[in-house]
Amino acid sequence: MSIRKRIVTIDGPSGGGKSTASRALAARLYFTYLDTGAMYRAVAFQCHKNELEAKETPELSDLLDSMTMELLPPQAGGDDVRVVVNGDEIGPELRTPEMGMLASKYSGLPSVRQTLTRLQQEIGKEGRIVAEGRDTGTVVFPDAAWKFFLDASPEERAQRRSAQLQSKGESVNEAELLAQIIQRDKDDRERSLAPLAAALDAITIDSTQLTADEVVEAMYQHVLHTSCCRDE
Ligand code: DC
Repeated sequence: MSIRKRIVTIDGPSGGGKSTASRALAARLYFTYLDTGAMYRAVAFQCHKNELEAKETPELSDLLDSMTMELLPPQAGGDDVRVVVNGDEIGPELRTPEMGMLASKYSGLPSVRQTLTRLQQEIGKEGRIVAEGRDTGTVVFPDAAWKFFLDASPEERAQRRSAQLQSKGESVNEAELLAQIIQRDKDDRERSLAPLAAALDAITIDSTQLTADEVVEAMYQHVLHTSCCRDE
């Protein structure tokens, strides 16, 4: 058997329930949760703040070379991983749909992907992580022991996102959210570099008709009943 790392990857389009599932699965396995989307959002935030175009330029290269990034656990009562870039924590702007769109745009740039892939591999080198994103099973951790691709219909995803934003007291336009989700899927799936895709050895779960608990249970049972690594 090839040597696999004790890593779970959960990829899929936005709003498919990846974050909820990844967080809960990580807690059940006593693994660390790695939110790679937050890292792409943080880079987009920095680029936007510095008014950089989504292009390979010397300014982008300088920004990436000099950037430090640290992920912190959620604050008490919250769920979102916090991101500190160059010593400053990015606020709630990190999680807005607009920042998601920007992240999708900048994430097509080779230098951005290279920088973040390297950082993610460094964080995951000891294993025991649940990584969530678009390419964690295909590019970042191809040797992960357990890979999932979590999907749901665009309408269901828009509705979930809307409920999530409303619970944070934000006003939402559901039609606009649906349009953004469809556009972001298209951009993420069609980009040439590390596109959103299920790894060949990933298990695809369609969560349209499932509760979050059912998704996590299915994943947990799969991890529990599939041995992975040589030291088992
Ligand atoms: O998961 P999210 O919505 O926070 O991700 C925001 C964007 O970041 C997403 O539209 C595409 C990009 N992304 C990526 O390209 N690769 C990843 N592994 C994670 C996110």
